[in-house]
Amino acid sequence: MKYGYFDQERREYVITRPDTPEPWANYLGSPEYGAIISNNAAGYSFIRSGADGRLIRYRFNELNTNLPGRYIYIRDDETGEYWTNSWQPAAKPLETFHSECRHGTAYTVISAEYAGIYSKAAYYVPLGKTHEVWDVRLRNNSGRPRKLSVFFYSEFTNLGSYEQDTVNLQYSTFISRSEYKDNVIVQHLNENTQNGDGTKGSHRFAALAGADACAHCGDREAFFGPYRNYGNPLTVENGGAGGADCYNGNAVGALQTKVTLGAGEESAMAYMLGEGNFDAASAVAAAYVSGRAERELAELKSYWHEKLDRFTVNTPDENLNASVNTWNAYQCFITFIWSRAASFIYCGLRNGYGYRDTIQDIQGIMHLAPEMAVERLRFMLSAQVSSGGGLPLVKFTHNAGHEDTPDDASYRETTGHPHYRSDDALWLFPTVDKYVRETGDTAFYDEVIPFAEKGEATVYGHLKRAIEFSFAHMTEHGLPAGLEADWNDCLRMGEKGESSFLSFQLYYALELFGAIAAFKGDAGSEAWAFGLKGKLAEAIESYFFEGDRYIRAVTEDGLRIGSRGAEEANIWLNPQSWAVLTGYASGEKAKAILDTVYQRLNTAYGVKLFDPPFRKFGMPVARMILFNPGTKENAGVFSQTQGWLIQAEAKAGRGGRAFEYYNKANPAAMNGRAEIRRLEPYAHGQFIESDDSPYAGRGHVHWLTGTASTVMIGLVEGILGVHPAYEGIAVEPCIPADWTGFTIRKLFRGRWLDIEVINESGTEKGVKRVVLNGSALAPGLIPFDRLSEGVNEIKVYM
Ligand code: GLC
Repeated sequence: MKYGYFDQERREYVITRPDTPEPWANYLGSPEYGAIISNNAAGYSFIRSGADGRLIRYRFNELNTNLPGRYIYIRDDETGEYWTNSWQPAAKPLETFHSECRHGTAYTVISAEYAGIYSKAAYYVPLGKTHEVWDVRLRNNSGRPRKLSVFFYSEFTNLGSYEQDTVNLQYSTFISRSEYKDNVIVQHLNENTQNGDGTKGSHRFAALAGADACAHCGDREAFFGPYRNYGNPLTVENGGAGGADCYNGNAVGALQTKVTLGAGEESAMAYMLGEGNFDAASAVAAAYVSGRAERELAELKSYWHEKLDRFTVNTPDENLNASVNTWNAYQCFITFIWSRAASFIYCGLRNGYGYRDTIQDIQGIMHLAPEMAVERLRFMLSAQVSSGGGLPLVKFTHNAGHEDTPDDASYRETTGHPHYRSDDALWLFPTVDKYVRETGDTAFYDEVIPFAEKGEATVYGHLKRAIEFSFAHMTEHGLPAGLEADWNDCLRMGEKGESSFLSFQLYYALELFGAIAAFKGDAGSEAWAFGLKGKLAEAIESYFFEGDRYIRAVTEDGLRIGSRGAEEANIWLNPQSWAVLTGYASGEKAKAILDTVYQRLNTAYGVKLFDPPFRKFGMPVARMILFNPGTKENAGVFSQTQGWLIQAEAKAGRGGRAFEYYNKANPAAMNGRAEIRRLEPYAHGQFIESDDSPYAGRGHVHWLTGTASTVMIGLVEGILGVHPAYEGIAVEPCIPADWTGFTIRKLFRGRWLDIEVINESGTEKGVKRVVLNGSALAPGLIPFDRLSEGVNEIKVYM
């Protein structure tokens, strides 16, 4: 079933059927003022922190018909009939109610046509601002004069903290009151408490501009009346917002205006929400003049589209194009900017950045905005402990050089992380490497950055410490120890357990570090790294290899996880993909282990994490047994891992297979089967239920997931084959043999590359020749100094 389509031209996803299986979300603003909105206008906003800065309320895990949101009720004052601009919550019959939602880059436009009235609300946060705007237009298409009322509704939280607002009612419902003056409702919180800066309390506002409020209501219960819900507020039904103010209870920003429209006539107005008292509200509202919303929306579009334009493709697969050019790219920015802070699933209680997640998120925007990526990379390097490990959770208040660490009880208590995770700092290697290769900024290696708790080192020094950290925690078999966990939070091999995934990561780290050392002319470190790499490779081979697969781990007690004869979990995905993508396994061996994956783990909806799921074997090693089989880490299709598999198949030269896997992972490819996948067809989720679940194909945990970045890298580096290097760039695609070609437009260190790949031999991989601006080059690297400052025409013949 299909609920919408991709408008590639406008970079929008257009929802034409509003009864989507789940609320399909979009992100507005930035964490300075963040807003999440569904295609039915449900959602919430926060200021600075999803955990502590909630402005308007949302109830998690609620029925989709009972969600607070940004509602606009329209009432025909002659007949008394009313509806909402978004289909929900009034939910008029879809035979007569026409709805469209356009989710775009940091804006959402919802429109309706009902009873001869066209209405449209553009929701957005102006660029760089800390308030939100609902820009509303009405048009009378009925051919006769109409008298309407429009009610704007939003529901303030009583406390910025989601948890406190929800559960600490004996306190939170007695600290708030609302006040109305000149088109503005202000909610005062703790208004008699003195702040450090001499002000008192805190204040939020809802303001109307471009129209006059004829009535208001600041109290939730008064707005709805007894035993009503979002779909049928009594004040709307009666046609008058009533004038109640909130004093204790729950404050809302309901404002009513009356509109008389002749046949064909239009009217415009805006509703705004933000932090501050009447003055702040008036200043924001006063700035609203005709044309302003169009300007602000145009600004937003050009801000985002300029970034997305830096890497665009045109391949034979429209779904891939939609992802690379807009949605996967935009999702990479969202995960980069928002981390795991706020969605309809993440309640915002994690007040910091997960180390491994964030370092991986950075990779997803490298080809689009390396200047943004490096800022966050510096920040994350400054959250590396001087012993080389990463802080499992980097607080939003991180103060480099002064932090406590997992070695301190205080850190363990405040973050809940008992120990270092073995993989965190190892993610730095591919991320630093990608940054320097994208930008050519090799001076970055020499930049001095503090450690989390004390001391400082160059970036090169930070990387070396990360390796030393792993080697300070080696087991007697010469393998890095499991510590709290590796990438898989649920697999607890024990402090002294061993993980093949982790070992491949360390192998890769040594490979990348050795290459950097060679570049820097540091022969001692180069020999050190490559020497360790050789020994590690031997240990990996003798300890983890079992003929057609690498096992996943060996627990502290010597139990082999992922071993062929085991009753459960006897074949795992990540060790095979990582063996290949790191270059550890190549040639026939690479193909053989990837074939094991194809035979054992491939399902109709992607490749599962392992097989069979855990049903008997249990805690404490396999914590995933807590999940139903086929779900999340218990043999679900864990979406992030699909990106690594795509990379691995591409590395092995099998473009058809790489694309087959990509196509299963691509949300857009499920657009016509949305009733199965349920999640937004324009966003990756954390996982898909595998064939071990009765609901195979159902997706979960939308938007904030490492999937965005790993799948993007699988595409850009793996399938499309774009490989920047210090001295230039290579284009070495790995595609389905029946693709006759494709084009890429890329901004590379300030120069434009117009790349056309021509697959004249119908091959999956292998470049025969390259032509740059009319001159033939050998296949391989296109030297940067051969690129001209204008647009470069590059033809790549396969
Ligand atoms: C979640 C976590 C991530 C972890 C993964 C596998 O996605 O955010 O850190 O690697 O699960 O357990």
